[in-house]
Amino acid sequence: MPLAPCPFAPQYAKVIDRRVRELCVECEILPLDVDPSTLTDYAAIIISGGPQSVYDADAPRYDKGLFELGLPIFGICYGMQLMSAVNGGTVARKAKREDGQFPIELADGCAIFAGIASGTQVLLTHGDSLDQLPAGFRIVATSGEITAAIECAEKKMYGVQFHPEVDLSPDGGEMIKNFLMGVCGLSGSFSMLSRQQSAIDYIQSHVADHQKVLNLVSGGVDSAVCAALLNKALGPERIINLHIDHGFMRHEESSTVKTALAAVGVHINESPGAVERFAGATTVIDGRTTAPLCENISPEEKRKIIGDTFMRATQAMVDERGLTADNVVLAQGTLRPDLIESASTAIKASNASVIKTHHNDTALVRQLRDAGRIIEPLKDYHKDEVRVLGMELGLPEPLVWRQPFPGPGLAIRILCADEPYMTASYEAVASQLGDACTAWQGPPLSPALLPVRTVGVQGDGRSYSYLAALSLQGPPDAHWPALLELAKSIPGTVHEVNRVVFVLGEPIATAPRTITPTRLDKPVVDQLRQADAIVTHVLTEHKLLRKLAQVPVVLFPVGFGTDGARSIGIRAFITRDFMTGVPALPGSDALPLEALRELSTRILAEVPGIARVALDISPKPPATTEWE
Ligand code: XMP
Repeated sequence: MPLAPCPFAPQYAKVIDRRVRELCVECEILPLDVDPSTLTDYAAIIISGGPQSVYDADAPRYDKGLFELGLPIFGICYGMQLMSAVNGGTVARKAKREDGQFPIELADGCAIFAGIASGTQVLLTHGDSLDQLPAGFRIVATSGEITAAIECAEKKMYGVQFHPEVDLSPDGGEMIKNFLMGVCGLSGSFSMLSRQQSAIDYIQSHVADHQKVLNLVSGGVDSAVCAALLNKALGPERIINLHIDHGFMRHEESSTVKTALAAVGVHINESPGAVERFAGATTVIDGRTTAPLCENISPEEKRKIIGDTFMRATQAMVDERGLTADNVVLAQGTLRPDLIESASTAIKASNASVIKTHHNDTALVRQLRDAGRIIEPLKDYHKDEVRVLGMELGLPEPLVWRQPFPGPGLAIRILCADEPYMTASYEAVASQLGDACTAWQGPPLSPALLPVRTVGVQGDGRSYSYLAALSLQGPPDAHWPALLELAKSIPGTVHEVNRVVFVLGEPIATAPRTITPTRLDKPVVDQLRQADAIVTHVLTEHKLLRKLAQVPVVLFPVGFGTDGARSIGIRAFITRDFMTGVPALPGSDALPLEALRELSTRILAEVPGIARVALDISPKPPATTEWE
């Protein structure tokens, strides 16, 4: 079993962990200052880390004994520097060079590079690089002046000055495989099937005979797979699955989940009348009672009302069933990346109790958590592995491959407003937007500052500002890369714009200055639900669901000159971790032009009251995945 002590770079650690597990090798993430004497059961060590210098006063602490265990070691970036320093080498700050993808020249005969051609591209990191080679080591890869990899085959120590785990190092996965299988001789027997059995054993050993398990089923993949797994481990009579339909689910979402789970023997308990209760629900914020949800136009208030009402409804269902902290254990669908994230935070903050917080955080849930009566049967799984497990457990593919969907659902995908958003700076911002487009070299482009705002992330925090729209004379097909570049650059100079859409179809003749007043009324929610269902259908038909991380479909209150009409925004978003991400390029594999045309044509033809369809072409940052 290898381990990846990775103190301060959780994002990279998660990806390394994923790559190792893809090879069916079990892996644990431990802090760099782990006591080496506790590592006797491990087969290998991977040391990763960020761009720190081993000479920094605050460099991560470690025990030199780690290097004396006789285990094969793969040092990545900081890990290579450390390996070198411990063995008597030196590192130095060379000419400043940005992180980036560079080719590396390979020496012959290094086990890590077996079967890989010299000149392979890797994501090379900046900062310190090797100066004096430690005794017994040799250089096995270079990139210009930089030593890109070293080895001491005798001690089975290998170091690389790049990230083999990321997509920008296309042969990196092979290098990790060469280390685990070639150097360490691991066989890759940590299979999904053996892990399913371990998850079942874990559930059975953590739930006493007199206890039941409470599982909150949201409609998403994780809680559905968790329900199916619990059912298999304990039988249906010991599981209480609660599902609350707040009225902002997708088309047939609740019934699809119920039917799919019923087919594998899982029974769902619902909260009757919840849809009406949510529509009329209020909450108290800073001593003030909010407007009811169906009349509320504030994104944050909508979220808070839904979260609080969710808690009340869950608590009522729990009370009705006489569940207490003594007779019930709570199951949570926490995944491995969530645990890695919180473990890393815990190491940093010396606080071991940071675990994913759920929006359905009722009094009972808190008591159970405080008493440690929570089981996390999926804690060993990454998202894509949960999907494989779901298929193994007999859940249908469309459910298992469902894209993530926010807890508050369609409620935060409808931009609600009573009047146009036009601040005193509207004209100035509109003129800046015009200026930002003057360098455009394609066919005539019409930029328009729309009188609505969306949420984004700019500087260090949340922004809530103007949405800009672009449109073109003639088909945009040949111009998408340039349009995406332009959209990326606009918020850089027009700070009050955080998101840019491209409006499909005819160019926008004049920037609209009116909106169609919009609240969370049933007909409006139904309009969005119908458009969202069309998008899901078209993406499924074109087999694009697995290529796009998430595709929020949004309703915004602009009719572009048609009274009473609204428009639909589509965000085809590509990301691994949702911290950052990019829009899918129309015309690429992820979003073919026919699929985009079909989406737009069908929404305009089938959903009444929709004036235009717009494609969100902004990266994150500055535009968040969701518009609210
Ligand atoms: P943003 O919009 O912050 O979203 O880029 C990142 C991911 O989080 C999801 N998201 C939510 N999920 N409740 C949720 O359960 C929420 O209030 C919420 N807001 C955003 C979003 O869908 C994306 O996957």
